[in-house]
Amino acid sequence: MENPKVSRRIFMMTSGGSAAALATSALTPAHGAPVASPPASGATTLNYPKRAVGKAAAMPVNQAVNFSYPDASSPCYAIRMGSPVPGGVGPNKDIVAYSAMCTHMGCPVAYDTGTKTFKCGCHFSVFDPENKGQMVCGQATEDLPQVLLEYDSRSDSVQAVAINGLLYGRQSNVL
Ligand code: FES
Repeated sequence: MENPKVSRRIFMMTSGGSAAALATSALTPAHGAPVASPPASGATTLNYPKRAVGKAAAMPVNQAVNFSYPDASSPCYAIRMGSPVPGGVGPNKDIVAYSAMCTHMGCPVAYDTGTKTFKCGCHFSVFDPENKGQMVCGQATEDLPQVLLEYDSRSDSVQAVAINGLLYGRQSNVL
């Protein structure tokens, strides 16, 4: 008669090996190419959308152009500054874009063509679009979130592709 202890050990070793083999086979297709691991629990899984902002040639110099990104509830401004700036795209590397919501308490900022800055009328914070949205003065403690842009020279089109910084009032820019 078979020893029950040995049988149990053999069973555990055999079934453990089978489970590991099954787990491995679930992540590796028959042809052997590795498969991407599933996202970690609780991680943000959506990517930023790509969204057209406009044609570079149609953007007036030193004027704010309205658009929304990454969704309709997130107003933004694109500006062709007139000279190359950090993060700028387009033929002259001078087009940048920012959230239109102040990082202090979410009031709308307005572009001042005279000083080339964004100003918040609620508590007078000022942000510099020629320097990645840096907070210059006021109640805000965070820079204005910068919308990252791509430029396609063949079509002269500018597209929003991501945001650097957290939009006011959100836990995550893309939920
Ligand atoms: S909401 Fe803009 S400074 Fe307070």
